[in-house]
Amino acid sequence: MSESPVLVTGAAGFIGSNLVRRLLEDGHRVIGVDDLSTGSLRNLAEVREQHAGRFEFDRLDIRQGGLTPLLERRRPEVVHHLAAQVDVRVSVEDPVHDASVNLLGTLQVLEAARRSGVRKVVYASSVGSYGDTPETVLPIDERFDAPALSPYGASKRVVLDYLRTYEQLYGLAFTALTLANVYGPHQTTSGEGGVVATFAGRMLAGAPCTIYGDGSQTRDLVYVDDVVHAFVLAGGRADGQRLMIGTGQRTSVLTLYRALAAATGYPHEPVFAPARPGEILHSSVDARAAGRELGWKPWTTLEEGLAATLGWAAAAHGG
Ligand SMILES: NC(=O)c1ccc[n+]([C@@H]2O[C@H](COP(=O)([O-])OP(=O)(O)OC[C@H]3O[C@@H](n4cnc5c(N)ncnc54)[C@H](O)[C@@H]3O)[C@@H](O)[C@H]2O)c1
Repeated sequence: MSESPVLVTGAAGFIGSNLVRRLLEDGHRVIGVDDLSTGSLRNLAEVREQHAGRFEFDRLDIRQGGLTPLLERRRPEVVHHLAAQVDVRVSVEDPVHDASVNLLGTLQVLEAARRSGVRKVVYASSVGSYGDTPETVLPIDERFDAPALSPYGASKRVVLDYLRTYEQLYGLAFTALTLANVYGPHQTTSGEGGVVATFAGRMLAGAPCTIYGDGSQTRDLVYVDDVVHAFVLAGGRADGQRLMIGTGQRTSVLTLYRALAAATGYPHEPVFAPARPGEILHSSVDARAAGRELGWKPWTTLEEGLAATLGWAAAAHGG
């Protein structure tokens, strides 16, 4: 176990808060940074209570100058960088805002890291960095390349170049985890993989659910505990690598709708609306390289993951 603390940006968000909990359970000291723009302290309430002595939270916008003094004071060895503007639609409407957080904010993280002697940055990249994929080449692996369909995907993609540059120029190690569609407890409706959270929340509340497009679009749904495990492993392995993290299975939005409706006893049919610009039609990733380089593979089945997510959502909705 490392003596120095681990720093997590985006700590109050969906994946970040799950990662913080796992790192604390593993016995690490953890520093969480978040500006609470989409994240919430509610996601951290339990861990703050249970691990008070080993967890510090700093409300901070990564674009501002506060990170360097914080890192110089706390001297983390590893930084997990998850803070981001995560809404594809926001990025389509306001690419400059998206880049201010996802590109310039990330550069502030990298600058603070190299100035304070951080050994490694583990970066939350996205399958959304790659454009639409002909179904014949799915699942995609690390060799696949196509221009991003959204400014969100573009900004996430550009960071990969910076990570390589920082490694060469300053010796800052990195691993970029290209995440498929992550789902699980603490997810809100705004994120990329928010379709599970949206359907689950609306079905439990008895509210109508909208499917954009005809519902045949597919997603590679990977459970958050499995994803968090990949971050933990990457803290100590696979330097210089970009690795796909997903299940390789494709689930259509309509199939997901039916599974959640059956599990919640929701009787209504979906409302169909036009497909939204910037959204990828089909995606799934081949995570065999993560198996070789990290010793990672997903272990949660969709049924188990959806059941755990619904259990959490029901409690969160007071049901
Ligand atoms: N959820 C997915 O399916 C998915 C898929 C691919 C990649 N990712 C990536 O994983 C990471 C975490 O995503 P998430 O789904 O947990 O989303 P999230 O919105 O729950 O988490 C992002 C966190 O970053 C914080 N944040 C935003 N701007 C900030 C700023 N300027 N300074 C400090 N904090 C800021 C937000 O408050 C939030 O808590 C993101 O980098 C996202 O791009 C997520």
